[in-house]
Amino acid sequence: MKHTKIVDVLKTDPVLQEVFVKGWVRAFRSNRFISLNDGSTINNIQCVVDFENTPEEVLKQINIGAAIAVRGTLKESEGQGQKVEIEVQKIEILGTADPEEVKKTILSPKRHSLEKLREQAHLRVRTNTFSAIMRVRSKLSFAVHEYFQKNGFNYVNTPIITGSDAEGAGEMFKVTNMDLNKVAKNEDGSVNYKDDFFGKETNLTVSGQLEAETYALGLGQVYTFGPTFRAENSNTSRHLAEFWMIEPEVAFCDLDGNMDLAEDFIKYVLEYILEHCDDDLAFLENRLIQEDKSKPEADRAPMALRDKLKFITQNNFKRVSYTEAIDILRNSKPNKKKKFNYVIEEWGADLQSEHERFLVEKHFKCPVILFDYPANIKAFYMRLNEDGKTVRAMDVLFPGIGEMVGGSQREERLDVLQAKMKELDIDEEELWWYLDTRKFGTCVHSGFGLGFERLVLFATGMGNIRDVIPYPRSPQNADF
Ligand code: 4AD
Ligand code: MG
Repeated sequence: MKHTKIVDVLKTDPVLQEVFVKGWVRAFRSNRFISLNDGSTINNIQCVVDFENTPEEVLKQINIGAAIAVRGTLKESEGQGQKVEIEVQKIEILGTADPEEVKKTILSPKRHSLEKLREQAHLRVRTNTFSAIMRVRSKLSFAVHEYFQKNGFNYVNTPIITGSDAEGAGEMFKVTNMDLNKVAKNEDGSVNYKDDFFGKETNLTVSGQLEAETYALGLGQVYTFGPTFRAENSNTSRHLAEFWMIEPEVAFCDLDGNMDLAEDFIKYVLEYILEHCDDDLAFLENRLIQEDKSKPEADRAPMALRDKLKFITQNNFKRVSYTEAIDILRNSKPNKKKKFNYVIEEWGADLQSEHERFLVEKHFKCPVILFDYPANIKAFYMRLNEDGKTVRAMDVLFPGIGEMVGGSQREERLDVLQAKMKELDIDEEELWWYLDTRKFGTCVHSGFGLGFERLVLFATGMGNIRDVIPYPRSPQNADF
């Protein structure tokens, strides 16, 4: 007999059916009640042990963390908060867990801080909070693919090892198979990569955009969804050194179309989890409500998690130009009480995260799409506007998160692109293949990148990006 997932058992009508389940013991009380979880749902199933008919050595091994198989009869439960329970006929111990050892881990039955859970990243998925987050993350991934596939996009896999810097920000991890102490040097002392595996300097990708552009200019509509790497030393709750990025790229699409796509896409995936992850979202929502109780009123979340997600799906994002945003910031006074300390910005300055959060959380109180940024604070590939000083860039800013999406209409004119690259000292020879697309059938096209972990962060209401990816990579942290 094949075992049944607990999520399905819990949906079964309790008509004295025989059931067979497997899972890990979450709690064991009074030598009689086992709370069993198999990861298929946030909910445990209660198994009622007939301790008189269960061998002593089996009873001894029913400990928190152990893996067991249970056969029994499904019955209506008299206990509170559960409809059904299993009256156990037979228990088999599949994998033991020594209670003394368990005590030293996060599996022990007390509240552990999120920091503590991070230290045992290999075990934290056995906790309610992490299993809920990881199920939501999985469903969000599926929704990403479903959205693009339903809308005629092709999934392209761009390379992880690249010879170019897509963002021109220089925040790359080098890939080499050489001992850099023993390699040949150029006359100026720099490393000569001729003997390296690839015969040139290579890096882990910071973005699949440039390659995605070449594919959009052939397949029409494409998207990537893969790991990207940034060697920026940002030790914040919003940055990872390794994160997953979703990058759609669309031919014959301008900046307005790009904004429409970003908004429609985000609403779709959030609607999807509202529909498919209700138990997990309810659990995460309640977790936040409990956490908020210990905070001063002013620091509490203004909306419950699922209401917040619904609000996003049901309201338009506010579209505001960079210039308008600067005006709003200039006319707003610094407010120490609200912890905003912004100063009047000069036109042309990059916005700091406190400015973004002010616009989203205090001023507009909804997601904001900022567009038409000054050219000099954005990447080389963005389409220059007719004013000669702004580019068709867009950032989607989210409450509690800040930048969720960065994108743009791309510079499709060869001469303008070449002039920009020259200005920024970007080697044309390195990007000859990219420039080719502007020689052969160039056209208006646009795309964006969305940091998947920031989306999961928002969807789960968690506060730190390290808690929404199985094994986070951040400065000084690659322990697992
Ligand atoms: O704004 P970014 O740097 O844009 C690009 O890489 C473009 N090439 C994307 C494109 O147009 N195809 O990054 C895009 C998004 C950010 O808005 C943010 O959500 C996320 O990627 N992101 C990070 N997420 C986690 N940790 C980091 N260190 C991140 N850096 C960027
Ligand atoms: Mg950006």
